[in-house]
Amino acid sequence: MLFLTTIEKLFTPLVQPTSQELLDAIHKLQASVKDAGPFIRDPENKPYGRKLIYKSAHVEILVMHWASALDCSPHDHGQSYGWVQILSGSSNHTLYKLRPGELPVPVKEQVENKGSLLNVGRGMIHKMGTHEKDPLITLHVYSPPISGMKVFDLEKCAACIVSEDCGAWWPDEQRQLLQTISLPPQPAKR
Ligand SMILES: [Fe+2]
Repeated sequence: MLFLTTIEKLFTPLVQPTSQELLDAIHKLQASVKDAGPFIRDPENKPYGRKLIYKSAHVEILVMHWASALDCSPHDHGQSYGWVQILSGSSNHTLYKLRPGELPVPVKEQVENKGSLLNVGRGMIHKMGTHEKDPLITLHVYSPPISGMKVFDLEKCAACIVSEDCGAWWPDEQRQLLQTISLPPQPAKR
């Protein structure tokens, strides 16, 4: 399939790529929602259906198909960084700040539309989701492949490390929950 062949050509040469090198390859790829079509998975009862479409030692690429009105949980990306390209629909995007030992606090929320490229910096905590009827389809490019992703549950005042095959939600399956971290409750707002 041409899309996967083009991905192989563009991303296989990348060794410890910078964020800019990833972005250059994404621009050359010119991915469309049609390209992502064969990899769109039903979200079922989760915030998104996820499909890994490419993985090397240095880069991983996924297609995500978002449920309507079910945001993912706030999360980091382990030690990885990269980009999220919106191929269809629009996403609410919330950024959080985090002090050690505390719960993330939202600091910025904006709507990102089709064509947007969201920079995912190392250590960044965010959440995404859509409330629109148009399906939200996103392409995610990370380096290195994500491992040790931390997912926050703000109501439970807890965080957990999830396995590599789990998305940004509190896992249902015990095997996907690698570690649980208790956090102190958020201070009351004044
Ligand atoms: Fe993310």
